[in-house]
Amino acid sequence: MTGATGFLGHYVLRDLLVRGHQVVVLLRPPLADSSGRLQDMLKQIGLDAAAAAAGSGQLTLIEGALPDRLPEATWGRTDAVINCAASLELFANGNGDPFRTNTLGTEALIEWADRYGVTRVHAVSTAYTCGWNTGVIREVFHEPAPEFQTDYERSKWLAEGLLKQWGEQAGHVLTLFRPSFLIGDSQTGYTTQFAWFYQLARLVSKLKQQYRDPHNGDKTYIPLRIPGRPQDRQNIVPVDFVSQMMAEVVAQPRFHGRIYHLTNPEPPTNDMMKRCYEQYFGLHGGWFADPQEVVGKCSQAESLLWDQYHLLTPRVVHTPHFDTSNTQEVMAAAGLTFPALSQERIFMLLDYAAARRWGRRNGCHAGLTPPISATGLGHPSPGNSWPSVRDL
Ligand SMILES: NC(=O)c1ccc[n+]([C@@H]2O[C@H](COP(=O)([O-])OP(=O)(O)OC[C@H]3O[C@@H](n4cnc5c(N)ncnc54)[C@H](OP(=O)(O)O)[C@@H]3O)[C@@H](O)[C@H]2O)c1
Repeated sequence: MTGATGFLGHYVLRDLLVRGHQVVVLLRPPLADSSGRLQDMLKQIGLDAAAAAAGSGQLTLIEGALPDRLPEATWGRTDAVINCAASLELFANGNGDPFRTNTLGTEALIEWADRYGVTRVHAVSTAYTCGWNTGVIREVFHEPAPEFQTDYERSKWLAEGLLKQWGEQAGHVLTLFRPSFLIGDSQTGYTTQFAWFYQLARLVSKLKQQYRDPHNGDKTYIPLRIPGRPQDRQNIVPVDFVSQMMAEVVAQPRFHGRIYHLTNPEPPTNDMMKRCYEQYFGLHGGWFADPQEVVGKCSQAESLLWDQYHLLTPRVVHTPHFDTSNTQEVMAAAGLTFPALSQERIFMLLDYAAARRWGRRNGCHAGLTPPISATGLGHPSPGNSWPSVRDL
């Protein structure tokens, strides 16, 4: 498995270990640092990785990197490769990413699989390999190439193409997972990533701070335009739902060989998110407007939000509907339900992120803060609810 120190990866690793799988994890050098980081991250979500590594041998940590530092398979037979590693750079940087890790990395990984006779690959892609395609987006490969909003999307689409070719060869089985935008844990709010949903929330909190005025009442009145339509939906999905689904599919070969949209079946509308932000931060005065009228022509208050948010603005106006037929089949078979994003749950997610200063806490890795108990939803903290590997 690659990408275990990532936001999604550490959840997937936990869920695989809890189910009793033996996992060899590829960690970037230096191994000692990455291992320590992984151990801390797993602890945050209730798993004692040290016990696993030292005890049962269920977890093996190996140094390597995509695309050109893949290890010799000294541990013996490998049943499947799970690729959770990626570069989330939206646009090409001087190091060759996101193409280097996402596209060349995928190519290297499937060559590695061939070298060691591994016939099953489970790869994480993104729902947005659909680019600018609109309407219903099916759980199929998108051909011809859509128009893309970012290099990241293109790099993931190119990777999907390589995987498709590999999956078409005799004896190979390819499973592809396509999450939409990940947000924190649906039970605790825990997150190690503070982009998108959190980025906008942080900007709204800054707006409130800036315009807060004792003469302006508890609910600060800030007239501003919001680029987008009230009825459009933002597809955000809790990380624990995605990892549970992946673990369920990986565990059952009858579910392999398909594409899964791990997306929100009922994403919150822009209007609902507006009401959540208004209530949570105590402000009002915003109204929806045509993005063309807003972006680049902002008032002072609007600039605070949209000048910094502009990279994501295209996604605000592009809201395709993701078909989830394959995903629903697995959910029904496994008895899994989607954790609906009620206002209460969104507040809980915001509480967690605000307590972590939106990921900016004293320069520390935001994920390595003490575990937080669930607030208001009546669930136990993950530290109590998940068995350690030793308990299996
Ligand atoms: N986050 C989202 O909203 C989202 C949405 C849809 C799809 N996805 C997909 O979900 C998967 C996981 O994303 P994430 O959000 O968990 O990303 P993340 O938190 O940025 O984690 C990325 C992981 O990949 C590893 N990695 C990066 N470059 C590597 C390289 N060249 N060689 C080996 N490992 C490398 C990182 O290792 P280090 O810890 O050493 O950096 C880390 O473990 C990706 O395929 C991503 O495209 C994510």
